[in-house]
Amino acid sequence: MISRRRHLRWFVTGVVGVVVGLIFYVVGFRQSNEQVGKTETTRLEETKTKVSEPIIIGTVKEIPRGGQKYFMMDTKPDGSPGQHRAILIHLQPELAERAGVEFVAFSSVCTHMGCTVNYKEMDKIIECPCHGGRYDPITGKVLSGPPPQPIRRIELKIDEVGNIFAVGWD
Ligand code: FES
Repeated sequence: MISRRRHLRWFVTGVVGVVVGLIFYVVGFRQSNEQVGKTETTRLEETKTKVSEPIIIGTVKEIPRGGQKYFMMDTKPDGSPGQHRAILIHLQPELAERAGVEFVAFSSVCTHMGCTVNYKEMDKIIECPCHGGRYDPITGKVLSGPPPQPIRRIELKIDEVGNIFAVGWD
């Protein structure tokens, strides 16, 4: 008799445990979906931001193909004022053909923990030396490693004499 009662208690405890577990699972799943939705919305709302004045980075002759140059933006990728590290890359011919431009520029601040990324000419990727994050040198998208987000691209203008300017966040 005691044994049957004990079994019944275990059974009821087990059923209650499963039901509570299911409730937590469903609520947690809903919340994580809502967060994904919010992230998507934030990304869609990200708009182009102009810098206050075009920033001269250098000239087309100064940076060889496969070369890079660091510079400073005067706005942050979110449009707020403040200095932000950036990188200009002179793409090699095959990448330039795919990109449709010879020069690209990005935030040089890794989206993982903020180390400065650099362009690996041999591998044709942007790499973060801290934890091996790798980014696409045409789009800034994450190729591998821990970075949670792409690095933001910068809009460039080149004048008739070959001066390269950063004009805003793309
Ligand atoms: S800081 Fe760049 S991969 Fe960690």
